[in-house]
Amino acid sequence: MGAESTSTTPRDDPAAQHAEPAAERLETTFELNGSGVRLEVAPRMLLTDALRQAGAHGTRAGCEHGVCGACTVLLDGEPVRSCLMLAVQADGCRVETVESLAAADGSLDPLQDAFHRHHGLQCGFCTGGILMSLTALLREDPAPSEALVRDTLQGHLCRCTGYQQMIDAVLELAGGAGGPPGAPDADGSTAGGAGR
Ligand code: FES
Ligand code: FES
Repeated sequence: MGAESTSTTPRDDPAAQHAEPAAERLETTFELNGSGVRLEVAPRMLLTDALRQAGAHGTRAGCEHGVCGACTVLLDGEPVRSCLMLAVQADGCRVETVESLAAADGSLDPLQDAFHRHHGLQCGFCTGGILMSLTALLREDPAPSEALVRDTLQGHLCRCTGYQQMIDAVLELAGGAGGPPGAPDADGSTAGGAGR
């Protein structure tokens, strides 16, 4: 009987199965909340993970298959599920995450402030993605109907279930002073942080 081999193959070794060969790194360069970002990433790295690696920790990974909406960011102004995109697909794009909403001094933008006053967040896990979808909505339609707000929120699963407070916050903002996120003030300037 011959000697048994002790060598392992990638099939035997889970770590080896998931390891990326060192050569398989691609560069992706995009604008993140107004600043340029350049990352060397594995070809299959998700945009969610790349954003978190770049410091945008408000982008949450929930279901990681496009259902819950927690990972929503704006890509060239449009809401996208960052868990359904590869980091390399963001190359050359403008990405906005929830970190873009508050001003540099930490003051909240009008939508965040309305959420705060109406208790529109509970644990906060889903909130970053929801704020980005609603930001896109308010840029498109500064005074959306309740039906449109509800329709937007359909794309987000909040396990704490406080949807009504979110709706109240948006409707108050839509009907009140301050204007939608990103809207110029009377003097032509915009309040809030980059990408607001
Ligand atoms: S983590 Fe992307 S949709 Fe749930
Ligand atoms: S606030 Fe907790 S999951 Fe939405």
